[in-house]
Amino acid sequence: MVSKAVLPVAGLGTRFLPATKAVPKELLAVVDRPAIQYIVEECVRAGLDDVLLVTASGKGAIEDHFDRMLDLEQALEAKGKHDEVAEVRALAEMARIHSVRQGEALGLGHAVLQAAEHVGDESFAVLLGDDIVDPATPFLERMIAAHERTGLAVVALMEVPEDQVHLYGVADVSPGEEDGEYRISRLVEKPPVEEAPSNLIVVGRYVLPGSIFPVLRDTPPGRGGEIQLTDALQTLAAEEPIVGIRLDAPRHDTGDKLGFLKATVELAAARDDLGDDFVAWLRTWLDVRS
Ligand code: UTP
Repeated sequence: MVSKAVLPVAGLGTRFLPATKAVPKELLAVVDRPAIQYIVEECVRAGLDDVLLVTASGKGAIEDHFDRMLDLEQALEAKGKHDEVAEVRALAEMARIHSVRQGEALGLGHAVLQAAEHVGDESFAVLLGDDIVDPATPFLERMIAAHERTGLAVVALMEVPEDQVHLYGVADVSPGEEDGEYRISRLVEKPPVEEAPSNLIVVGRYVLPGSIFPVLRDTPPGRGGEIQLTDALQTLAAEEPIVGIRLDAPRHDTGDKLGFLKATVELAAARDDLGDDFVAWLRTWLDVRS
C-alpha cells in the first residue's frame, strides 16, 4: 500500500527569477492558490495523506501555508468571514504534512534521498513541487495501481515533438500490459534527436520502491554536479524494468514562465466560479489584438 508522498520543493527556481528571489516558486499563485497546494490536493485525492516536503532555508513559508494561523482565523472570525476561516483551516487539516531540509540544492535525486528516514523501505510517490497535472484526471491513482499490480517503479511519461527531446530524459520503451502503459528498459538524459529512443519524456510523477534509497546513496553526481533521480532510475532499469504510463492530460511546469502562464489560463478557464467570465474576457482581448 502506498500511503506516503514526497514533494521536493528545495530547488532554487532560477528559471523564474526575479519572482523567486524571496518567494519560493512553489508558492507562486496559480489563479488563487499556490502551485504546491494543487499538488498536495492531488496527493489527498489519490489517498496519500502523509506528505513529506523536502524543503530548504528561505522556504519556510511553504510549511506555513499548510499550518494553522490562529491570528488570521481570529481576525476572519471577528469579521464574520466563516467560509474563509473554514478554507484556511482546511489547509492545515487536509494531510499530515512533514518536512525535512535539503541543506544544499544538490539535485532532485539528492532531494528524494532526504526522505529515506521518513519513508523507510515502503513504496512511495514523488511529485515535483512545481508540476501541476490536470486536477480532473486521476493519473496518480493510475500510477499507484500500476505499482501495486507489478511491484515495479512507475514513472509518468509524456509525448513531446521530436525537436524537444534533447531537453529531457527520454525513455526507451516497449508496450506494457495496458493501453498507454510501457516497459522502460533504459533512460537517456537529453539525447540529440537522432539518438533519442522515443519521444516519450519522463515528467514529474514517480511511484518508487523503498529500494531506490540505497541506489540513490550510491549514485554519483551527474549532469550539473547534481545527483540525478534519472541516473538512479537508470541503475534500477538495468536490474528490472520500470513501468511508464503516458499522461495524455494537460500538465504544466509552473517553474517555467511560459508553463506558469499556460497553467494560469487553463486552470482559470476550468473554474466554476471564474471560468466563464475569464474566457469571455480572453476572447474579447484576443479579438482586439488580432
Ligand atoms: P527543477 O529543476 O524544476 O527545480 O526541479 P529548480 O532547480 O528549482 O529549477 P530551476 O531550473 O533553477 O528554475 C523540480 C523540483 O525539484 C525540486 C524543485 O524545488 C522543484 O520542485 N528540487 C530540485 C529540489 O527539491 N532540490 C534540488 O536540488 C533540485
